[in-house]
Amino acid sequence: MTRKLFVTTALPYANAPFHLGHMLEYIQADIWVRFQRMQGNTVHFVCADDAHGAAIMIAAEKAGLTPQAFVAQIAAGRRQYLDGFHIGFDNWHSTDAAENHELAQTIYRALRKQGLIAERTIEQFYDPVKGMFLPDRYVIGECPKCGSKDQYGDNCDVCGSVYAPTDLKHPKSTLTGATPVMKSSEHYFFQLSSQRCIDFLKAWTTTPGRLQPEVLNKIKEWFATDELGHVGLNDWDISRDAPYFGIEIPDAPGKYFYVWLDAPVGYLASLKNLLDRQGEDFEAFMADPAVEQIHFIGKDIITFHTLFWPAMLHFSGTTSAAGDYLPRKVPSHIFVHGFLQLSGEKMSKSRGTGISPLKYLELGLDAEWIRYYIAAKLSAKVEDIDFNPDDFLARVNSDLVGKYINIASRAAGFLSKRFGGVLSADVGVEGRMLLDGLRAHGNAIETLYEEREFAKALREIMLLADRVNAYVDQHKPWELAKAAGQEAVLHDVCSVCIEAFRLLTIYLKPVLPALAAQVEAFLRIEPLRFTDAQRGLGAHTIGEYQHLMQRVDAKQVDALLEPAQIELPPPGGEAIAAEIKVDDFAKIDLRIAKIVDCARVEGSTKLLRLTLDVGEGKTRNVFSGIQSAYEPADLIGKLTVMVANLAPRKMKFGVSEGMVLAASHGDAGLPKGAEPGLYILEPWPGAEPGMRVR
Ligand code: 2FM
Ligand code: ZN
Repeated sequence: MTRKLFVTTALPYANAPFHLGHMLEYIQADIWVRFQRMQGNTVHFVCADDAHGAAIMIAAEKAGLTPQAFVAQIAAGRRQYLDGFHIGFDNWHSTDAAENHELAQTIYRALRKQGLIAERTIEQFYDPVKGMFLPDRYVIGECPKCGSKDQYGDNCDVCGSVYAPTDLKHPKSTLTGATPVMKSSEHYFFQLSSQRCIDFLKAWTTTPGRLQPEVLNKIKEWFATDELGHVGLNDWDISRDAPYFGIEIPDAPGKYFYVWLDAPVGYLASLKNLLDRQGEDFEAFMADPAVEQIHFIGKDIITFHTLFWPAMLHFSGTTSAAGDYLPRKVPSHIFVHGFLQLSGEKMSKSRGTGISPLKYLELGLDAEWIRYYIAAKLSAKVEDIDFNPDDFLARVNSDLVGKYINIASRAAGFLSKRFGGVLSADVGVEGRMLLDGLRAHGNAIETLYEEREFAKALREIMLLADRVNAYVDQHKPWELAKAAGQEAVLHDVCSVCIEAFRLLTIYLKPVLPALAAQVEAFLRIEPLRFTDAQRGLGAHTIGEYQHLMQRVDAKQVDALLEPAQIELPPPGGEAIAAEIKVDDFAKIDLRIAKIVDCARVEGSTKLLRLTLDVGEGKTRNVFSGIQSAYEPADLIGKLTVMVANLAPRKMKFGVSEGMVLAASHGDAGLPKGAEPGLYILEPWPGAEPGMRVR
């Protein structure tokens, strides 16, 4: 029985080009989709740009463009990445397309009809100069707890406390510098806290096989009730006031859907756009219970996909003529992956350590190398995966080329020179045993692909390649070719190699589609499917062997990793502070400090706890907001510079006895997910703990 699959990847914000993290997700989903197609299943594989929201509106304004033009510019750059890495989406659309406006409004109306939309007046900061309500990240001010300056509206980088933007002292709008005023407006809420939603979500999330166990674990707390009987689910604010780049809310002039309301609807809009163009009926497709809806996403957007989105879908159905409620299709699975790291560190564009996918292609690195490498690291777990340059080189050169490609190159020449490219019809007992052994693993490999255990699948396949290479080494076709009367044996051995190579190609094809196409051309066969593993080629004539794949050159990888140009701060970056006298500077006692210990602070995503030796015969405890930039282990034993005469400050996690210095551009205006780039100072060799810096 063939399956009908509707598969998506997360819709990327249309405010920046792709980074390698996007490609990780696309490659993972693409491998799975190609595998499904090779099984004869039908797949609709779509994505789109996530076009809306305040961030994009403001970025467009800064660029002097309308949001539509801004988004179009980003969208125009997508093709080269997708084609470049052999990502086979059937459609790429936009959440600002007509289909999405219509679908989002239809879904909203249906939720309202279900009585799940509430109106409430809320008070928020408003920038009177800009004439706009301010999202939390556009308000900065002094932390209400520790007094640190320039803290964001939701939490303090320095002491880690969490608060509302209205708690900040001396708040300022990052857009105009104006002091925001409180202003109230009507907002619309999706009543997720309603018993109906809770009951549905409990059932949906706990359906066996629906979610990965770690994911279920993470969201379980939402359903836990506290001592007062409150469930952890709050109603969800789905409206924003004009000016906003988004979709208008029906019957609510000047109100727009919050970007996260219409973003997942974009999955449906992209599918609808595809089906419309193919002359298929979208509603009928979605009403087909056989269709499985599957979303590949990163671990940062689990809540949106496991709570808000399924509830939106379930409660936006229709009523049948007989009066029965017909819910919309809900996702069958959400497949969550971890983040991509570079040699153990979080990829960060502003630190120049991100790898640009375009640079990868421009340097002439083969897309299938990184597809293979990423696949070799992927499992069904929500684990971060590490791009390690040495490991990349080793896996591509020793496994992919050394073990797999070599099988063909060792046998093909003899076949064409000596046997006119015709394969032996019967390869004899030993060859048959080897090939049957390879075939016997087909089912296990298929299961591993199905379960997204790609690393395990490739490990299995490479073990099979090892067997084939052992066979080649044992029979030594290059010696058979010279020996008298060994024609038939040579023919059989080389034919076994080619058949084994064909089987391995079937198994690798989801990961290496372009290479498999080359192999199909070389072997003069139809596009390979998994079922083709069952029958051999017989006395088939193959083509002339052409070189199939290069080894990676270490120089290419070095070039790839050369730090990218560090991006300049946004216009209006930090200005030089007001002039001071030398006496003012002398008041600051800067000392060389040795980091004798360093650890993450439990309960803070920003802070590291440093134990510093400044030559006083005792150590000091200092909290520093550098967790995003450094692993504690990397700092231990290093020298740095601290302000040693700063009054001790009581913070949420303890007393901080000083401050370490770090350089940064500040992160206002950086795209979501980008790290601001923080660099602590390190003295030249020879400096010792306790020395004064002047
Ligand atoms: O986090 C993000 O990059 C979002 N643009 C993902 C949206 S996924 C879907 F809901 F559209
Ligand atoms: Zn603080």
